[in-house]
Amino acid sequence: MCGIVGYVGTQQAAPLLIEGLGRLEHRGYDSAGVAVLGTRMQVVKKAGRVQDLVEALPKRISGRLGVGHTRWATHGPASDVNAHPHTDAAGTVAVVHNGIIDNAAALRQRLVAAEVELVSDTDTEVIAHLVAASAADTLEGKIVDALTQVEGTYGLAVVHADFPDRIVAARNGSPLLIGVGEKEMYLASDLAALVRHTTTVAHLDDGELATITATGFTTFRQDLTRTATAAAAVEIDPSAYEYGGEEAGEGPRMYWEILEQPASIERTLRGRLDERFGTAHLGGLNLDPRELRAIRRVKILGCGSAYYVGQMGAGLVEELARVPADAEPASEFRYRNPIIEPDTLYVAVSQSGETIDTLLAVEEIKRKGGRVIGLVNVVGSAIARACDGGIYLHAGPEIAVASTKALTTMYVGFALLALQLGRVRDLSVADGKRLVAALQALPAQIEEIVKREGELTEVAGTLAEATSMFFVGRVRGYPVAREGAQKLKEITYRHAEAYQTSELKHGPLALISEEVPTVAIVPDDELTERNVAALHEIAARGGPLVVVTHPEVDLGDVRAARIDVPKSEAELDPILLTIPLQLLAYHAAATLGLDVDKPRNLAKSVTVE
Ligand code: AGP
Repeated sequence: MCGIVGYVGTQQAAPLLIEGLGRLEHRGYDSAGVAVLGTRMQVVKKAGRVQDLVEALPKRISGRLGVGHTRWATHGPASDVNAHPHTDAAGTVAVVHNGIIDNAAALRQRLVAAEVELVSDTDTEVIAHLVAASAADTLEGKIVDALTQVEGTYGLAVVHADFPDRIVAARNGSPLLIGVGEKEMYLASDLAALVRHTTTVAHLDDGELATITATGFTTFRQDLTRTATAAAAVEIDPSAYEYGGEEAGEGPRMYWEILEQPASIERTLRGRLDERFGTAHLGGLNLDPRELRAIRRVKILGCGSAYYVGQMGAGLVEELARVPADAEPASEFRYRNPIIEPDTLYVAVSQSGETIDTLLAVEEIKRKGGRVIGLVNVVGSAIARACDGGIYLHAGPEIAVASTKALTTMYVGFALLALQLGRVRDLSVADGKRLVAALQALPAQIEEIVKREGELTEVAGTLAEATSMFFVGRVRGYPVAREGAQKLKEITYRHAEAYQTSELKHGPLALISEEVPTVAIVPDDELTERNVAALHEIAARGGPLVVVTHPEVDLGDVRAARIDVPKSEAELDPILLTIPLQLLAYHAAATLGLDVDKPRNLAKSVTVE
């Protein structure tokens, strides 16, 4: 979703801004633009890809300061005029903005009444006019004037022709980072846009503003009092953000992220397992054993696939710790005025750590005195910082919109949490050891599944031919089915609906036909027989079947394309059953010739409500 870059220093800004925008492409966008300030302000913006913007740039675009933006349409369609930066009528002020201005309609009316001509449909344009209209002497003062009139969320950056040495940025609910270089400074909404130039960064907090010049930055609040935000080195490998690259090879990033899962899971597990006592050590939880024992309920909140993994996590917590647990979409949570209980552990789960619905759910819980931990991938992200403690996933940067490696590390994170919660309760040391061994075996088992990828491509081709299909599973297998359907929908644009296998005959069976395949999750567990019976019901109605199962399962005379995965401990089977579904979705999309990494209408981080 929308991305911001900024540069001020000794180099030409335009190429650096374009390069930064290229690194934000994975977030999802529909138009892009830059404002470069040299002897005059030059603004170029285009609907379409960053490449379209590059083609529209004049040969002579010169200036050592500028801002750039990738837009994901909210107010008004994707068009050249709605793309950012937005300017005032004189073209003196240029603004890029992520987030949503809630009172934009009222502000637009006011500006129109004052005979200001608005040229776009956007909420952002009002900010440029408000900044231009301010009588304050400094750019900082002008922006504060504008922001006191604005309600909503923003990460924004402003350049002004009368203040050619600086970019002023402000944050309220939409991330912004400042990157510190040698006589040059960068600004971005995502670390990915900075890491090639610097890994020394400062995160702005909500309510903070920053003035950025070539020689440094200062941060302050809306009352212009200084804050103490400082830059620090982040421990990351910049090459992990490269698209393709030597190690990954060329091709869709999603594919390489699927293949990377054994390594990312190893990173999640590293240093956290205790073989001797059959438990996990999660220091970042900031909870001692007594506090862990006092937890009476676990409530998991996430969006999209993170919510589906949350459902798997709730299952793990109930099975291993025997603590009641459930998952709920974070996007719904705060709208029902949730009851926050002191002995409930709230868990926010997010790859990006930026998803606004999840962040707002965390803030609602904290406002009501609840304790929240985060299962988050991006270190230092808004959700990670808002939580009382948590588990970093260490999946490494995930670039493809369709999440794969982050989700499997989330699952492992939940397994570690459930194990630690279980071992301070009634989970025996023997059971703990059994699970530790099973967790350690996961990377090699995933390798095994991926090695047999060839067998899946033909099945994926058949699924790609169908326009509608079901994914079904029971209990542990149901969230697996949900995640499988989600992955397929996201990148193939085929209709895929997930159901509990047990619910088929209560309605959806009516839709089963030769044209509607079913992907069934049939683990070797206490429900195998019932699952196989349901397969017969589907087959009897001519429904083509793909069965993701274990080698030990006897499907009898059911005609099905069979995909076997190695058996883990029953509690951990879901993670291995998920892997072939990722590969099926990927190969189906590839068969259809679709842009796997940038599915239409979707954004990597959903930073608006
Ligand atoms: C996953 O494939 C999706 N792109 C999406 O559902 C995602 O999981 C969701 O938007 C949550 O993102 P987060 O993990 O960054 O919070």
